[in-house]
Amino acid sequence: MGEAEKAVIDVRNLKVEFPGRRGTVTPLSDISLSIRAGEILGVVGESGAGKSMTGLAIQGLLERPGRISGGEIWLGDRRIDTLDDRAMEQIRGREIGAIFQDPLTSLNPLFTVGSQLTETIRLHLSMGKVEARARAVQLLRDVGIPAPEERIDHYPHQFSGGMRQRVVIALALSASPKLIIADEPTTALDVSIQAQIISLLRRLCKEKQTAVMLVTHDMGVIAEAADRVAVMYAGRLIEIGPVEQVLHAPRHPYTQGLMASIPSLGARVVKLNQIDGSMPRLDAIPAGCAFNPRCVYAGSRCLRDRPELIPVGDGASACWLNAGGTA
Ligand SMILES: Nc1ncnc2c1ncn2[C@@H]1O[C@H](COP(=O)(O)OP(=O)(O)OP(=O)(O)O)[C@@H](O)[C@H]1O
Ligand code: SF4
Ligand SMILES: [Mg+2]
Repeated sequence: MGEAEKAVIDVRNLKVEFPGRRGTVTPLSDISLSIRAGEILGVVGESGAGKSMTGLAIQGLLERPGRISGGEIWLGDRRIDTLDDRAMEQIRGREIGAIFQDPLTSLNPLFTVGSQLTETIRLHLSMGKVEARARAVQLLRDVGIPAPEERIDHYPHQFSGGMRQRVVIALALSASPKLIIADEPTTALDVSIQAQIISLLRRLCKEKQTAVMLVTHDMGVIAEAADRVAVMYAGRLIEIGPVEQVLHAPRHPYTQGLMASIPSLGARVVKLNQIDGSMPRLDAIPAGCAFNPRCVYAGSRCLRDRPELIPVGDGASACWLNAGGTA
């Protein structure tokens, strides 16, 4: 990779474990992905696949007793999975911004949006009050809030859902982070607003050269916003590649089923649960390929050996069929 192509975030063989009374479960196993500056990586997969957990692990926000038990996470030249809580607190907000499904989880109802923006700006950047307020107004303008000089003194409840999510995007961008993790950022919004928020996120990511990890169930959002797509299944990454390839020429049988179950890729609000059978529970992930009970191509090797991601086309797929032989 050349300097310009260097990854902002590089996750290598990440493994997350939760020790429990009935044994240890492994919600994430061998996840490797990277995102470059100005690139949007869409992350898809049915409920419980590990999408949110991957974002939380990167941010150092795993709920205890969950822990990273293997692999490495690099933010540029810095390894961050080994940092303590205090160091991670400084990275969150400053270098990694977060956007969650519900804007109200990121905004405090008791304070004006301006005070929350300026506080975050001043916490992370050495700026005086006046300068921070000017930056806050500019951020609100950047995210398309009309009359930002007035709106800055309003409280979160005085904004509509869509405008509130714009404020959250401004907050996430306030210290110019290198990476933004957006977990279902439009799910709670009116369908009519969703496309506006997604195109805003895409425009800002390109302008500011922010790397974005965009978790969503919505293939319409993926088609519009993502440059590359990662497909997760039962805590594993099973396919990754450029958006055109993953959407229109998927290589993994699970992704193929996923795409075939979507009547039109333009259609919105399609849930990814239309393949026969269901994803295994964490304490019952089968040996070999985790998808084998649902896969029409499954052969003896699939029951025995776990497939690694194998380069195919411009991406990679974790399926023995892509290894050049039979399954
Ligand atoms: N605190 C926890 N302790 C143990 N297991 C957990 C915990 N939180 C989540 N899990 C499990 O980890 C797995 C991955 O969950 P995750 O929230 O990442 O799924 P997801 O892909 O984001 O799903 P969704 O689309 O529903 O948001 C699930 O099986 C979930 O039950
Ligand atoms: S490895 Fe085997 S079971 Fe898994 S997706 Fe490929 S063919 Fe199906
Ligand atoms: Mg989730």
